Amino acid sequence: MDKTIAVIRGDGIGPEIVRQALLVLDRIADLFGHSFTYTDVDMGGCAIDKYGDPLPAAELEKCLASDSVLLGAVGGEKWNDVPGDMRPEKGLLRLRAGLGVYSNNRPAKIWKQLASASPLKESIVEKGIDFIIVRELTGGIYFGEHKTEGNTATDVLTYDESEIERIGRIGFETAMKRKKRLCSVEKSNVLDSSRLWKKVMHRLADEYREVELSDMLVDNCAMQIVKNPAQFDVIVTENMFGDILSDEASQITGSIGMIPSSSLGAGKRGLYEPIHGSAPDIAGKDLANPIGTILSAAMMLLYSFNMEAEASAIEKAVSEVLDAGWRTADIMPQETAEAVGCKLTGCSDMGRKILDKIEK
Ligand code: IPM
Ligand code: MG
Repeated sequence: MDKTIAVIRGDGIGPEIVRQALLVLDRIADLFGHSFTYTDVDMGGCAIDKYGDPLPAAELEKCLASDSVLLGAVGGEKWNDVPGDMRPEKGLLRLRAGLGVYSNNRPAKIWKQLASASPLKESIVEKGIDFIIVRELTGGIYFGEHKTEGNTATDVLTYDESEIERIGRIGFETAMKRKKRLCSVEKSNVLDSSRLWKKVMHRLADEYREVELSDMLVDNCAMQIVKNPAQFDVIVTENMFGDILSDEASQITGSIGMIPSSSLGAGKRGLYEPIHGSAPDIAGKDLANPIGTILSAAMMLLYSFNMEAEASAIEKAVSEVLDAGWRTADIMPQETAEAVGCKLTGCSDMGRKILDKIEK
């Protein structure tokens, strides 16, 4: 197959992790007889420096003209003083909205090789951690009015039923493909938007009778994720709750550097990105973990291009490299690695090792 991919390297460690993911994609193309054409897109801090805008219209157009979009990470201290609507993060939000990718899928799965890297007790980890957070991505407080007047600042959280319904459906459909347990997370004891959320989820439940729907308040959910993560199969939640819970969930699996994500809308074109940030402190030092981005590329193959065997080949290669004891520093510090018989390596070497393991 011939596919076009818009590539946003972004800021900080973005360019180095994306480089490794593209090498992996090239290897897949060679082995499986595909052709991937990459178009570089400027977004984030680098676009502010170049054009004074975190996502110029022409750059968004390039994404809309591609079959899919791969993103590293954006942002950094350098742009901290840029006004709110011109920040690097705003480029990312405009990209998500512009692509119409309202459904963000963030798996929290522990790799058996990394069980000892989880900060949770062994007795909790051994019950298993394998759930998905389906996060609403183009609505809620992120996209409501933001304003500061004098010494008062306001951010508006709005959802309408249609926005809740379409993400709710993704939650139910995702659960149907898994263990058929869906936990809807909200704050209905305080927020009107959450009461509407809950009402719509229960209405949808009538259409998905095989799925067991439960409700959980977001503060309790934050607690349950560390207390008993094995109880979760699919969590569906609004934008900001999903942002916070997905960072928490990633941490219990060992490292945020391992977690990929997909964002999809009505069509096949998706936005694929690791869930971690641009980590400016380690940028350019070849220390970053490229696995989250490499696995995001695998998700792209699976969800946008229906390339199941190709996606599995990447996941298998990652697993084999972890089996062989290779770790990046985000997963464990040098001393721990040595104590448990693992070896630390850097970004490009980790990428190379994964690439070498890929087979058809
Ligand atoms: C994420 C990030 C973004 C978000 C930021 C960079 C705007 O934290 O993808 O989780 O809050 O959505
Ligand atoms: Mg986040």
